[in-house]
Amino acid sequence: MRDEEYSPSEDTFFIADYIEKEKGVSALDIGSGSGYLTKLLGKTFTFVVGTDINFVVLKNQTYRTENLICCNGADAITMEFDLVVCNLPYLATDEILDAVTDGGKEGVEIPIKIFDSIYKNIKIGGKFLFVTSSLSNYQKLMDYTQKLGLTPRILAKKKLFFEELILVEAIREK
Ligand SMILES: C[S@@+](CC[C@H](N)C(=O)[O-])C[C@H]1O[C@@H](n2cnc3c(N)ncnc32)[C@H](O)[C@@H]1O
Repeated sequence: MRDEEYSPSEDTFFIADYIEKEKGVSALDIGSGSGYLTKLLGKTFTFVVGTDINFVVLKNQTYRTENLICCNGADAITMEFDLVVCNLPYLATDEILDAVTDGGKEGVEIPIKIFDSIYKNIKIGGKFLFVTSSLSNYQKLMDYTQKLGLTPRILAKKKLFFEELILVEAIREK
């Protein structure tokens, strides 16, 4: 596993613009990486938790916060949150060689594993915000959130040189 953290990039800033508008009591950042989004959530949420599958990355975070947990998705957490955010590894790849970016087949394999893990952690009436891309089968991902009982919609798109970033909001209605 690559042990350098993912430096805040276009996709980080894209979701950050929307996170800044959110506020509440509890928030969860899946795939915390450098901690940039976890720290940002701390400005408008009282209690924030960050998880990452890579222990070394969590240990050496640039934007340090409390309440960091090393696990897949939210496997180690039972608490429900007002907001869950994730800048997903979404690249379509045959194999998972880099956990930071590789999403597996159609770019949905790893995201679906993460969704399965975190669904239980979204409060009823709570929100899940995630970034994906035109390079992955994002429609399949949105359909999957619906299968889990969430109501998804595309909040924003951003054109980059070689792809379009897509920000999805999915509400847990019941
Ligand atoms: C694209 S980076 C995003 C980092 C940071 N949130 C940001 O926006 O700059 C994805 C992060 O997710 C982590 N990750 C990958 N698969 C994961 C999983 N199954 N559960 C938790 N974290 C995961 C990676 O280690 C990496 O730090």
